[in-house]
Amino acid sequence: MKIGILTGGGDCPGLNAVIRAAVKTATHDYGWQVIGFLDGFEGMIHNHAITLGPREISGILTRGGTILGTSNRANPFRYMVSKNGKDAWVDYSKRSLDTLKKLKIEALIVIGGDGSLTIAKQFQEKGLAVVGVPKTIDNDLNATDITFGFDTALHTATDALDKLHTTAESHHRVMVLEVMGRYAGWIALEAGLAGGADVILIPEIPFDLASVCRKIMERAKTGRKFSIVVVAEGAAPRSGEMVVQRVIKGSPDPIRLGGIGHKVGSAIETSVNMETRVTTLGHIQRGGTPSPFDRILATRFGQAAVRLIHDKGFGQMVALRNTRILPVPLAEAVGVLRRVPPDGEMVQTARSLGISFGDSL
Ligand code: F6P
Repeated sequence: MKIGILTGGGDCPGLNAVIRAAVKTATHDYGWQVIGFLDGFEGMIHNHAITLGPREISGILTRGGTILGTSNRANPFRYMVSKNGKDAWVDYSKRSLDTLKKLKIEALIVIGGDGSLTIAKQFQEKGLAVVGVPKTIDNDLNATDITFGFDTALHTATDALDKLHTTAESHHRVMVLEVMGRYAGWIALEAGLAGGADVILIPEIPFDLASVCRKIMERAKTGRKFSIVVVAEGAAPRSGEMVVQRVIKGSPDPIRLGGIGHKVGSAIETSVNMETRVTTLGHIQRGGTPSPFDRILATRFGQAAVRLIHDKGFGQMVALRNTRILPVPLAEAVGVLRRVPPDGEMVQTARSLGISFGDSL
């Protein structure tokens, strides 16, 4: 039997560990052959594929990114083509399924976030034998307690906070760190807790700049002449909108956020009269070698996805629930984002420590 595998959407640490585990399990446990599609669904549309054997997966456990390449634009159900200088949308889903038939692939593993898993679900509705593996540094996928990639991103963001602390203390400055996470504040919240932030701004809790400045001034008055502020890229003031950095035509979610860190930084500098610097961590959070936690989770997911194909559990995604790897329907996993509960235990813990979310009056 032949199975296919692809990585869709933004890259994230641990993708290669999933590919490696899936190929090893397929060959070792079942004697199957694995075909990898290049650049996400793009490879399925255009029949760009490679055979994945021991040589291809050797040494990839520790490598960030994906050896298969990825794309966050190639949606076979709504694919953008340029005809006579004009953009047009075409449905290439049948063409993609024909590629699988041509290659005699009987089942497909889609490793992706909300966008790619939604496409996987659409293919399943068209009769494809498909299983999903959840990935994203944002940790915002419903139906799994955690996605791989998040832990590595959290380490990077926490390390950045530790480093920013030294300049904050030495120069008596306010240091603002903008982190990723799209519409969920998990990276900001957890890095803020791990890195001892004084203010954490997340999309789930609209903030008030006056409240943020009050917190910084209170600290200064009591002798702590520096402050650390973590801002999620999706955070927005009570009376404002998220800051959109760019719009990517053809992407399932075309909005790219970014820029709120600088807005918050200059507002603080003006009102508090303390020297302020802003760091935008950006794609540093998505790169590099996966943490041991992510390598292990990705390996468990890769093995479980192949087993799920063997058990004919199609239309499902592997998920981590209370330390166990379980299959859950793709329908449960997509469409609704898992966001930070504003009244949840982690936010409460932060509040008890005096961390401000910029929402106190
Ligand atoms: O979903 C992962 C993520 O890194 C988000 O945190 C971020 O908003 C987005 O992708 C950035 O996308 P791109 O790589 O297209 O700039």
